[in-house]
Amino acid sequence: EAYLPMDLKSLIRDIPDFPKPGIVFRDITPLLRHPEGLRYTVDLLAQTCKQAGLTPDYVVGIESRGFIFGPPLAYQLGAGFIPVRKPGKLPSAVHTIEYELEYGMDCLEVHQDAFDSGCRILIADDLIATGGTAAATAKLVQKIGCELVGFSFIIELRDLQGRQKLPDAPIVTLVEY
Ligand code: PRP
Ligand code: MG
Repeated sequence: EAYLPMDLKSLIRDIPDFPKPGIVFRDITPLLRHPEGLRYTVDLLAQTCKQAGLTPDYVVGIESRGFIFGPPLAYQLGAGFIPVRKPGKLPSAVHTIEYELEYGMDCLEVHQDAFDSGCRILIADDLIATGGTAAATAKLVQKIGCELVGFSFIIELRDLQGRQKLPDAPIVTLVEY
């Protein structure tokens, strides 16, 4: 289906000083509640991935906000969805993904048996900021021996140069700040 282009930024709300003073939070909830905005975003994301030759077996989405657009993207690409979750949530044996925050470390988990050997993976999240979360997920996917076909984000915060932390693979983004 063809649509008129939409101004996605007009559906993303800026919340100053959240979660901390000096940070502008890019809030996608107005976009999510907007029927055409939601459909347009998912379709544009899928179309852009296809045009970039990103044909994964699985979309890997990162809790929490990577669970919003990851599954509809996987559906559109004819792929499965694999959740990367906060610690203690997944019931079977997990691989642990550690990554650095501004202060200290954080960790995520994924089921060990989620990946078939050599499967093609697309990592999806709502936003790339410092790139720490996506880079850690990429490291794990590659360590396991999967083929990382690329990344997709709705929003990129360019000043933070997160893409420099990512391994060399195509990156799809829809909105930049
Ligand atoms: C946000 C966002 C990305 C991550 C990007 O998640 O959804 O996952 O930060 O930051 P980075 O590029 O600096 O790693 P957050 O940790 O706030 O949690 P949430 O998805 O559960 O809201
Ligand atoms: Mg997140």
